[in-house]
Amino acid sequence: MALIKETDFGTPIPQTSKEVSLIIDGVAVSVPLGTSVMAAAMMMGTKIPKLCATDMLDAFGSCRLCLVEIEGRRGTPASCTTPVEDGMVVHTQTPRLAKLRKGVMELYISDHPLDCLTCSANGDCELQDMAGAVGLRDVRYGYQGANHLDACKDESNPYFTFDPSKCIVCSRCVRACEEVQGTFALTIAGRGFDSHVATGSLDFLSSECVSCGACVQACPTATLNEKSIIEFGQPEHSLVTTCAYCGVGCSFKAEMQGEQLVRMVPYKHGKANEGHSCVKGRFAYGYATATDRITKPMIREKITDSWREVSWGEAFEFAARRFKDIQHRHGREAIGAITSSRCTNEEVFVVQKLVRAGFGNNNVDTCARVCHSPTGYGLKTAFGTSAGTQDFKSVEKSDVILVIGANPTDAHPVFASRMKRRLRKGAKLIVVDPRRIDLVRSAHVEAHHHLALLPGTNVAIINALAHVVVTEGLIDERFVRERCDLSDFESWARFIARQENSPEEVARISGVPAEDIRAAARLYAKGGNSAIYYGLGVTEHSQGSTMVMGMANLAMACGMLGREGVGVNPLRGQNNVQGSCDMGSFPHEFSGYRHVSDDATRDMFENLWGVKLDQEPGLRIPNMIDEAVNGRFKGIYIQGEDIAQSDPDTQHVTAGLEAMDCVIVQDLFLNETAKYAHVFFPGSSFLEKDGTFTNAERRINRVRKVMSPLAGLADWEVTIGFAKALGVVMHYDHPSEIMDEIAKLTPTFRNVSFDLLERIGSVQWPCNDAAPMGTPIMHVDRFVRGKGKFMLTEYVPTDERTGPNFPLLLTTGRILSQYNVGAQTRRTHNSLWHEEDLLEIHPFDAEARGIREGDLVGITSRAGEVSLRAHVTDRMQPGVVYTTFHHPETGANVVTTDLSDWATNCPEYKVTAVQVRRVNHLSKWQAHDRELAVALRHIRHEGADAAE
Ligand code: SF4
Ligand code: SF4
Ligand code: SF4
Ligand code: FES
Repeated sequence: MALIKETDFGTPIPQTSKEVSLIIDGVAVSVPLGTSVMAAAMMMGTKIPKLCATDMLDAFGSCRLCLVEIEGRRGTPASCTTPVEDGMVVHTQTPRLAKLRKGVMELYISDHPLDCLTCSANGDCELQDMAGAVGLRDVRYGYQGANHLDACKDESNPYFTFDPSKCIVCSRCVRACEEVQGTFALTIAGRGFDSHVATGSLDFLSSECVSCGACVQACPTATLNEKSIIEFGQPEHSLVTTCAYCGVGCSFKAEMQGEQLVRMVPYKHGKANEGHSCVKGRFAYGYATATDRITKPMIREKITDSWREVSWGEAFEFAARRFKDIQHRHGREAIGAITSSRCTNEEVFVVQKLVRAGFGNNNVDTCARVCHSPTGYGLKTAFGTSAGTQDFKSVEKSDVILVIGANPTDAHPVFASRMKRRLRKGAKLIVVDPRRIDLVRSAHVEAHHHLALLPGTNVAIINALAHVVVTEGLIDERFVRERCDLSDFESWARFIARQENSPEEVARISGVPAEDIRAAARLYAKGGNSAIYYGLGVTEHSQGSTMVMGMANLAMACGMLGREGVGVNPLRGQNNVQGSCDMGSFPHEFSGYRHVSDDATRDMFENLWGVKLDQEPGLRIPNMIDEAVNGRFKGIYIQGEDIAQSDPDTQHVTAGLEAMDCVIVQDLFLNETAKYAHVFFPGSSFLEKDGTFTNAERRINRVRKVMSPLAGLADWEVTIGFAKALGVVMHYDHPSEIMDEIAKLTPTFRNVSFDLLERIGSVQWPCNDAAPMGTPIMHVDRFVRGKGKFMLTEYVPTDERTGPNFPLLLTTGRILSQYNVGAQTRRTHNSLWHEEDLLEIHPFDAEARGIREGDLVGITSRAGEVSLRAHVTDRMQPGVVYTTFHHPETGANVVTTDLSDWATNCPEYKVTAVQVRRVNHLSKWQAHDRELAVALRHIRHEGADAAE
């Protein structure tokens, strides 16, 4: 394995088919119109020396190193800022240019430490390379003049250092922060000799910086350098893999020394991220080697016993014996499994296969149940496919971006940067969210409309937007006539035109002024290409599926489907939530979303697997828990999911787990659910296995093994070992063989293979004979289901109501530095930015309760009570409070109710009626949980001591 080095063309290559021909150093070349002379030269393999240019950024032209001679032009223009012209004749290497370049380098080096041999960037420094490239051997001015060599280092950021003594003030970092990330945290302060990079604050940590690392990547010297590089030295080899955090699915080069991961570098050819990253994917990978990772299989008779470390064989036998015994005593339906959206497609596929072919039932579900199951239901009903309609790049063609119930800058940061780039270029933004998320107003971005609705009124708002479209004649009649089912449309149009759906009526329910709704609807319908992006603020409601269909209705009515710049796009939470759904993790569907009752589909699986399959849908997660509490569901195999923390109504979930005879947890760490487990299969991190993840744009990306599994087996091998102990034959030598089986059984994956991914990098499904290279935009000429289906989306208020005892509405979400239940990010330096979950409350509500910033407050709902510290902020609207759920001790889901989406059972996390009061103690649940944790730690230590 070698170190992967991507070519830097110096300036971006324009995306156009128009070409320009010129001659560079005597060689004729044709390049896209708008290409710089520097990039044109690089395209034919000629490197022009450069320092301030890099192809992730627009040309700047400050260092004067890239000078060239152009026949017929005076002087020596900078090649990075000079666009090519037809017939141009360029010379990049002449004695005059060599002298000028050497002179420029002399000036830089005269004010630079001469410690190359001991510098952390030695061997990976563009300044060093350029000194070599121009043949600099000495500096005529000496090194004694005024310089910056004593400048103080800023080491405040946990992941990178800033050493101004090495800075050449090329401003690549400043431009990366602006152009790539869109945070504008850096600036060049001072003038002339005093000019320097400044954060606008004391240091990086206290500044606006969000630690995305774009500036570190852009820096051509060791001024901005990863601390891991300073600690371990330069990497020796690398592999391209995919981030294991969110559904953006960024590609990274995992750079290694032997089996030591030295750094993660965003991969420029990764189509989801195009060389950008966020703090999680780039820096927060330390959890993979955290000291509390469990690397030995463990078993115990009862959950009050100590864990006993055993061999893999013994663990498999123990688990299989218990599962067989349960089925023997309680019937075939008494066991099931949950697949993980953090595992690969191949690993998920083998778990659902084990359930259907091995357990003999369809009791398999996935964590998408608690996040995007309404997306699957709603989009499939309207369009025929349970997935978003666009690729991420599509947003670059949007004129209006409608963000509903999503907070991309925190939860999907790399896509947010792409979106902000488009907004800075003039696209208009509508935000529908109870909270003033960052996008509403941030550097150089401001929403045209922020519809700050009350939680639980999404459907009323989407209906009101559609009402304006229908009643003000804003329908795209041609699109509707040609592409949609007309009789459904007509009954929908009659329904939506009813007075109850008018902005004026909905204003009373939602709190959003009618004129704002009207203006937003007109902008969406007539503002050019309009695209909808949405998140869990849409799906995690009792009407989650209705809302997804409501958005689909609006998009169809306005003709906003089937081309670039438009569409209905779920921003998926987990890295592989799209994939886990695609792979047949739902109890009613095989891979590719085909119902288990469909005879032809079942035949296909039965023939290949050689076993009869159940035609009845199995149990969903909440049904499994209910049945467990009722004594009818006795064993569960949980692959990489912490339902005791992530699922609603924690006390009900733990009661269900406690009632089971065998709970198998497969995870990296002893998570909250493992407190109720009898078998623990140690999991493998994304660095330890081969496979694929599918991101929010249906893009199948490779995950590559960069180190051996710490527990000896990758997750897919564990499932197969367990299956074997149960007597279920599944044999694969490599995950590529699992993908081959998926492709054989799944029409939308028919042409997908590891070979294809090796050749083209990634592909968006459907990928089959009709679309051999995948499908960036769906429903282009016709909907997958044929005609688009309008559905009636009557607004039905949630049963969760405020009242005198619970006057506030609690809603929940994520923060940039942490990820979901925090199992990964809490084990990294990311906790520096978010040590605990806080309750955000508006100043009016705080004052009415005598609550001040930082006070401990009790949140009580009909389901339970927890205590958190308060953060008083006008980001909230009065009457609504908000918290994150990244820390298990918070127990945010102790207070959420068991209400759920009518169609999919997706929990209603986003609406809980609560009361908030100042308190001076933890809640009963938190105190009990803390005691339990201490007791279990004690048991575990005793167990470990005994084993020694
Ligand atoms: S890490 Fe990212 S946000 Fe921070 S200064 Fe650098 S580019 Fe800007
Ligand atoms: S920190 Fe690096 S990128 Fe920024 S101005 Fe200095 S040398 Fe250039
Ligand atoms: S945006 Fe998502 S996929 Fe990309 S680096 Fe961040 S967490 Fe990973
Ligand atoms: S690289 Fe062209 S001026 Fe710096």
